[in-house]
Parts: sequence; structure tokens; C-alpha cells
Amino acid sequence: MLKLVALTKSVPGGRTLFHDLDLTLEAGHVIAIMGESGVGKSTLLNLVAGLDTADSGAVLFEGADLGTLDDDARTALRRDHLGFVFQAFLVLPHLTVVQNVALPLVLKRTPGEVALQAALRSLEDVGLEGRGDDFPRQLSGGELQRVAIARALIHRPKLLLADEPTGNLDPETAARILEVFSRQVRQQGASVILVTHSEVAAAIAERTYRLTPGGLVCL
Ligand SMILES: Nc1ncnc2c1ncn2[C@@H]1O[C@H](COP(=O)(O)OP(=O)(O)OP(=O)(O)O)[C@@H](O)[C@H]1O
Ligand SMILES: [Mg+2]
Repeated sequence: MLKLVALTKSVPGGRTLFHDLDLTLEAGHVIAIMGESGVGKSTLLNLVAGLDTADSGAVLFEGADLGTLDDDARTALRRDHLGFVFQAFLVLPHLTVVQNVALPLVLKRTPGEVALQAALRSLEDVGLEGRGDDFPRQLSGGELQRVAIARALIHRPKLLLADEPTGNLDPETAARILEVFSRQVRQQGASVILVTHSEVAAAIAERTYRLTPGGLVCL
């Protein structure tokens, strides 16, 4: 469902993060990507999401080359088929929890009441029933992370990109969130790229890679 072909990316200043990187992800599979801080993991996810462009190479999503799509088509693809759990959760502070979760559907112009009901169900799925009217500042780090997961999965994306979804959490909370995460992913049959520093988190993946300056190494 996703194919990266000979991707090359350098950062301003000239350092090459990766060169001729290839990767294939099958539908319904979970892969983990580990690697040192600064090696380019988040950059790679941004390329897959079409939020950044490579120097050369191609990102093929279900056969469509992201590089040949115009901005509108790329935005539509992201909105309809991708979910993203960002490294810094990006929960919007002025929206309530349920409004945050409903956001992907609201952006797709889903009728308000339908979006609300779906968001409430999604909150229940991650064990946050009853917290919908709270504001993000009233939630703990682990609860916020579950809001981010509920939001990323509400529109049942085909591909979920998760950047350190259990970073900054104590091991117990992290384990609980991983359980929620993998259950949801498997129920929805989504494919996942999970970027993580944690061996425990990587264990939910079918395959684990290490991103190094020399390329992706299968562990
Ligand atoms: N817009 C930019 N301009 C210049 N350098 C950048 C830019 N974006 C990223 N970088 C650099 O690219 C490198 C890779 O960054 P990236 O965020 O992908 O690393 P990472 O592997 O996700 O690290 P971490 O594990 O700390 O999240 C870093 O050295 C970073 O400083
Ligand atoms: Mg990162």
C-alpha cells in the first residue's frame, strides 16, 4: 500500500539524512522505525505524509506518486487516508477534548452531530468516556496522548503515522496506551509506521528497522 523508492533527503546546510532509501509497507502491517535522535525519523514521516518533499525518489501511496499530485490532491489524500500522531501531540488548547477528536471529520465537512457522535465513540475506545467536555489543560500527559490517538483514528485512515506515541510517558501508562493503540489499529486494519525509541513499543510491530546514516537496517 506504501512504497518508498530511492528516497534521498538532505537538510539545509548540506547534511544528507538518507540516500536511496527503499521501503515497502503492506496493507494491515505495522512496522517500527528506531534510530538515534536527529537521524531523520520525523523527517521521513513528513515525507510520507507529503508535508515535506524529498530531493529525489518517490513516495507511492496505493500506486499514486505523491510528488506528481498537486497541493489539493495531496491535501485530500492526507485528509481521507492518513492519520498522524505527532511527536508533540498537537492537541489544540482552546478546543474541548471531544472537539479535538472530531477535528478530522469536521475538516471533511461531516455534519456536526455525526462528527460529535463518532468522536464520543472514539473517546470511549481509548478509555476517555466522560472527558469530552474537558479542556486539554485538565488532562494528564497519558490522557492527552490518548486524545491524539482517538483523533488520528477517528476517520479510519488506511495509513497511520505515529511519531513517538509513548514518548514522555511512564512505562505503565506507555504500556496501557500501546495496548489501546494496537487494538484500535488491528480492529480497523490500518497500516502503521511507528517511530519510537522504545523496544517495548517496537514489539507491537511485525518488523523493526533502524534508521542510520547508511540507510534503513532491518532488525
Ligand atoms: N527545516 C529544517 N532545517 C534544518 N535542519 C532540519 C530541518 N528539519 C530537520 N532538520 C534536521 O534534520 C535532522 C533530522 O531531524 P528529525 O526531526 O527528522 O530527527 P529524528 O530522527 O526525528 O530525531 P528525534 O528522535 O530527536 O525526534 C536533525 O538534525 C534536524 O536538526
Ligand atoms: Mg523525531
